[in-house]
Amino acid sequence: MAEVTLAPCNHALSGEIEVPGDKSISHRAIILGSLANGVTNITNFLDGEDCMRTIHAFQSMGVSITKEGSTVTIDGKGISALKEPKEPLYFGNSGTTTRLMLGILSGLNFFTTIYGDESLAKRPMDRVVNPLREMDATIDGRNTGNLLPLSIRGKQLKGMEYTLPVKSAQVKSAVLLAGLFADGNTTVVEKTQTRDHTENMLEAFGADITRSGLSTTITSNHKLIASDVHVPGDISSAAFFLVAGAIVQGSDITLNNVGLNETRTGIIDVLIKMDADLEIQNKRLVSGEWIGDITIRHSELKGITIDGEIIPRLIDEIPVIALLASQANGETVIKDAEELKVKETDRIAAVVDVLSTLGANIQGTEDGMIIKGKTPLKGGKIASYHDHRIAMMGAIASLVTNDTVTIDDASSISISYPSFFEHLNSLK
Ligand code: S3P
Repeated sequence: MAEVTLAPCNHALSGEIEVPGDKSISHRAIILGSLANGVTNITNFLDGEDCMRTIHAFQSMGVSITKEGSTVTIDGKGISALKEPKEPLYFGNSGTTTRLMLGILSGLNFFTTIYGDESLAKRPMDRVVNPLREMDATIDGRNTGNLLPLSIRGKQLKGMEYTLPVKSAQVKSAVLLAGLFADGNTTVVEKTQTRDHTENMLEAFGADITRSGLSTTITSNHKLIASDVHVPGDISSAAFFLVAGAIVQGSDITLNNVGLNETRTGIIDVLIKMDADLEIQNKRLVSGEWIGDITIRHSELKGITIDGEIIPRLIDEIPVIALLASQANGETVIKDAEELKVKETDRIAAVVDVLSTLGANIQGTEDGMIIKGKTPLKGGKIASYHDHRIAMMGAIASLVTNDTVTIDDASSISISYPSFFEHLNSLK
């Protein structure tokens, strides 16, 4: 799949969708299952390219991992059984694999080289490398260790207390995972709460971890215990259909079994504040994570300000929230989201480019964007920037344009949502 042309949708969308497993949780399940002793069964694993990178990384270190569709079985033999990989590890487009693996590889007593695709090679790694070096890690690479390829000479690490300078769950997770191998305690303090799937799963796998407000402490532990994981549906994938339901006249869509961890539900808060017609049912706790069914119906929406502590709770949803805002009455201001510039692409520039090509009134700022709605959207040819979330936002936009939308390359969608077009067509 390269170029894709989508016709506008001139009727209501209705139906039920089961979005695929959560990307963040799928990565973490592979990581902890591979470090643990015993058999870990993972169900509803996200069969997307990024998560496959994490599987391949551990297979290259000798871990037995088998996968049948969305079910994965890991026969974990514990940390000491991991072996030096014979080849450099390729992480493709996956920032999560890279940053979390840096934390782990730093504490394993062997040498590894890691590299990625063109986008990953541009993304900053010093945010992880700097704290790991404070823990005594030996990491080197381009730009004094900020850019891939990087090489890691694993060794005994020492614990530390670290206050995160960036709002990043990947950095928090890398330091906590390194803490599993470090002498003494490792404490991470956040200024703003980011997703806490690593902490939840470390608890489930028997790590010695304590949480108090925005501070998390882990004590060295080489004996994680295997624990089965059922992965909730990814709210970041559900977000595309939540927006579709909210903006397409007459729509009524239900998304079943979606992860509702509070550190991820910023999009729901935004939709409610914008006056969306949204309902959550069957909320329940599964494998330590909240899940539920979300129903969204079309309604008149109003612009709002999105800033401060909510930003990490919806950081990956901002491209599709910008589209939502273009169909809301009044002004929507998104602030404090400078992290968007270092995602798979500069998502401020990409969103502004795509939505203004389609006729939206949108302006980029240093840390976000300002969107004035409601604007009728027109067809056109848009660039995906090889970014899955930009490509999917463009596809959802095409539902409300007056003419066809051509996406230059939609292949990146398989990174997080391989069945996206199948699900989209099922609603049409
Ligand atoms: C992720 C954290 C976020 C998010 C990314 C996945 C994770 O990145 O954007 O898609 O799984 O920890 P940052 O940690 O860079 O904010």
